[in-house]
Amino acid sequence: MIALSRRYRFPAAHVLRRADFSEDENLRVYGKCANPNGHGHDYALEVTVSGALDPSGRLLDPARLDALVDDALVRRFSHRMLNDDPLFAERVPTAENIALVARELLAGPLAERAGVRLRRVRVRETRNNTFDVGDLR
Ligand code: NI
Repeated sequence: MIALSRRYRFPAAHVLRRADFSEDENLRVYGKCANPNGHGHDYALEVTVSGALDPSGRLLDPARLDALVDDALVRRFSHRMLNDDPLFAERVPTAENIALVARELLAGPLAERAGVRLRRVRVRETRNNTFDVGDLR
């Protein structure tokens, strides 16, 4: 078994707050990220897929993976306010939830159209914060 990882970037904005929390609770839980005006990050997304090699000796043409990730996720989120996306209507767009949503958006198309398995999604929000979803072995 072999794995391929590719990195993508998408700048996006978010606000971390819950409507059912008081102002104090939002500030306590989310700190300055609760500021209603929002703030931006230059998110880095790393997608790792695995599977069998095809007769050409490739797991998956990286250009095909790029097109699929771009279609399913990057164009949707890039330069957007993440809170406005229906996927975050019920979920605060923390980096953890962005990683979970990214897995939801990518797993189906990858299996159906590219024939590979999504092993891991990694979202880097800041230099110090990286979140992984998937097969963490
Ligand atoms: Ni933030």
